Amino acid sequence: MKAGELIRGHFGGDLTVDAAEAHDIKLELDRRSQELIESIVLATFPDHGIYGEEGMRGDPNAADQWIIDPIDGTVNFFYGIPHFAISIAHRRHGVITTGVILDPMRRELWAASRGGLVTLNERPIRVSNRKNLSDAIVSVGVSKTEAAIEKGLPVLGEMMRSARKTRMLGSAALDMAYVATGRLDAYIESQISLWDIAAGMLMVEMAGGVVELKPHPNISDKFSIVASSGFISFTSPAID
Ligand code: 2AM
Ligand code: CA
Repeated sequence: MKAGELIRGHFGGDLTVDAAEAHDIKLELDRRSQELIESIVLATFPDHGIYGEEGMRGDPNAADQWIIDPIDGTVNFFYGIPHFAISIAHRRHGVITTGVILDPMRRELWAASRGGLVTLNERPIRVSNRKNLSDAIVSVGVSKTEAAIEKGLPVLGEMMRSARKTRMLGSAALDMAYVATGRLDAYIESQISLWDIAAGMLMVEMAGGVVELKPHPNISDKFSIVASSGFISFTSPAID
């Protein structure tokens, strides 16, 4: 919640860009948000490891690790589009035990623990029960690399033809949370990183849905993903 306040407080204000790449923006605020989350986690669990989009800290072989995306949807944030999130997952010996996603603008907080409940603002949630693709809303992410465009565009075209509506919202973590909540029937992307989806994977599964990952052959912790309610089948995009 503290990181959410930090980010919400800077929305629409002056921002310092650390790095602007062709397809991505890194803000000083991404780093500050991760540092704030790290300091809170490590104050309570000093021997745990941190695996974050803005870097690693502590013992990389620690049994307990925290997978952090300090601002997921940084480009939305930078352009003043109020659709982004903080995503935090805990894993023990490689198994995700807990996931939290916060949308600081709408003050929506999703939480899931393995073997427990998955909730939105403390109310239990479930995936949608729509059965037909023609009734479905599907979010398709296509990141700006040649490989992702090549693999993602056919999927996008197929969904634009077959689903009720296709969306491209700009935050993988919120896409996952929305699938868990039944707002979206599926989220599909040909290249996504572990920190974008770690908390959301547990949420979708605990909410009754299905997550299919194909690991990238050369880049660790990069995947193609289909996260869905499980009631409609989707072909998962190739990853090279
Ligand atoms: P970010 O905002 O933390 O960078 C849509 O852009 C989604 O894809 C966001 O969740 C974004 O996370 C993520 N993303 C951005 N650039 C990416 C890349 N090159 N590869 C994979 N995912 C990316
Ligand atoms: Ca991200």
